[in-house]
Amino acid sequence: MTAAPHLFQPLELRGITARNRVVISPMCQYSAHEGHMDDWHLTHLGRFAIGGAGIVFTEATAVQKRGRITHGCPGLWTDSQIPGHARVAQFALRNGAIPAIQLGHAGRKGGMQRPWFGNGPLNDADLERGDMPWTPVGPSELPVAERWPVPHALTVEEIGKLINDYEAAARRALAAGYKIAEIHGAHGYLVHSFLSPLSNKRTDAYGGSLEGRMRLALEIAARVRAVWPEDLPLFFRTSAVDGVPEGWTLDDTVVLAAELKRIGVDVMDCSSSGIAGAATAGGGQKRQPGFQVGYAERVKKDVGMTTMAVGLITHPQQAEAILAEGRADLIAIGREALVDPNWALHAARDLGHDTLFETWPEQSGWWLAGRQKTSDFYQPKT
Ligand SMILES: Cc1cc2nc3c(=O)[nH]c(=O)nc-3n(C[C@H](O)[C@H](O)[C@H](O)COP(=O)(O)O)c2cc1C
Repeated sequence: MTAAPHLFQPLELRGITARNRVVISPMCQYSAHEGHMDDWHLTHLGRFAIGGAGIVFTEATAVQKRGRITHGCPGLWTDSQIPGHARVAQFALRNGAIPAIQLGHAGRKGGMQRPWFGNGPLNDADLERGDMPWTPVGPSELPVAERWPVPHALTVEEIGKLINDYEAAARRALAAGYKIAEIHGAHGYLVHSFLSPLSNKRTDAYGGSLEGRMRLALEIAARVRAVWPEDLPLFFRTSAVDGVPEGWTLDDTVVLAAELKRIGVDVMDCSSSGIAGAATAGGGQKRQPGFQVGYAERVKKDVGMTTMAVGLITHPQQAEAILAEGRADLIAIGREALVDPNWALHAARDLGHDTLFETWPEQSGWWLAGRQKTSDFYQPKT
């Protein structure tokens, strides 16, 4: 028997096993109500579980109300938000996927427009729609860019409360049934804004040197690790580089990853950019296929850590090569999964791992196999 392609080899992470290496990357839907998820989220995420992914990530979920990016972002700052998450987590599990959640805080980027209304800070048109602004928070009183609101610089006491809220949200995520938690430390949101010297101008223990700027990320990771069960993995998403002069560098990421590993973070999810504009804007790299894979590769090699590659990975053969070359351990698929929620199932056929729909959900696989076997006219389309 030939070995399964790398993309379809299971991955053990602490006490759980992902059925393959395909991960659906966290993707905001801007469709929650006061932080509560609904049928949209169940259907949107459920199709990726049915679609064969090994791990399905729920979008950035705010640990505080003011930590939402937009009015439509989900949260876990209160217990009434647990049931919406539980439906998603349980559905994913029942359909063979590991449910994962990204815990975040928007920081300076809190209170943005939903992308389809402009993707910038809230303006008068948003107020007319009832989307009232709030004062965002950050390490220092420095806005993301010109015309963005000036954030309130968190006091040390408020940082303590923030870390408590991460812990509380992690407990709620566990109660909802998620098996993986990820700390969102990327894209210019709160944790990243503490890491980067461009946004963190503090002179206390949470700023200054690399050690000071990493303090918040490490304290959050340690606190979440303390309540996240021993047999469940913890991920950290990093913006591996700011891509802006004087900003956070890949060398900094390697130092951070080593510290996170020491605390018990299992997987480094390597994205980039976002410190000085919306979402992942900026960064200075050419957006070409697999443009961020080198970051996952460097962390994997230098720190000996399990890594996830993300960013313009769209073809099964491309994903397979990244794994075969030992550059990363997991492949996150974002936008291409929106194009094809069955991306993982199709990749299995493309790579010859599935020849007769045997990895497809039995509700459809049985019929599709029958059609393939009996119809002389059927031309399998992967
Ligand atoms: C609609 C949408 C929403 C996103 N929301 C998040 C998010 O909540 N958290 C996050 O870390 N990244 C988010 N991202 C970034 C993706 O997770 C991913 O890193 C990025 O799209 C690059 O991967 P891709 O080329 O496969 O799409 C989002 C991307 C999209 C397209």
